[in-house]
Amino acid sequence: MAVRNIVKVGDSILTKKCRPVEKIDDRILTLLDDMAETLEKAEGAGLAAPQVGVLRRVVIINVGDENGLIELINPEIISSSGEQTDVEGCLSYPGQFGEVTRPNVVTVRAADRYGNIREITGEGLLARAICHECDHLDGKMFMELVTRWLDSEEQ
Ligand code: NI
Repeated sequence: MAVRNIVKVGDSILTKKCRPVEKIDDRILTLLDDMAETLEKAEGAGLAAPQVGVLRRVVIINVGDENGLIELINPEIISSSGEQTDVEGCLSYPGQFGEVTRPNVVTVRAADRYGNIREITGEGLLARAICHECDHLDGKMFMELVTRWLDSEEQ
């Protein structure tokens, strides 16, 4: 395992659409392991493959709940409901936080590292993280959705 560099805002890789994973091979497993180590070191809640320079549909999430580390390969949000507005940030845009409105409950379908298709339903912070990370796979970032930026005293 290795900590990878996190791509920062301004790099065009963050605006690109990622390709699906066709085969879960050693490269993808190493990517997942490296992303987990990178996320832990950065103390973040989620990380998408393009943030480490890989244009593949892979994300990991860890919001510190009972789910622990969630690995999502080719994730698709299949349902969402409700609404929540809360503060959000991104490891590719360090030190900047803003309010974003997201669905309150989200169900995502994805493969795990063994190729098993699973559905995971998240509420609150987990729903927010799923939406935020899946957006990265389509080259979208949370800044586009921020309705109010926090000033330095609020952070
Ligand atoms: Ni992000």
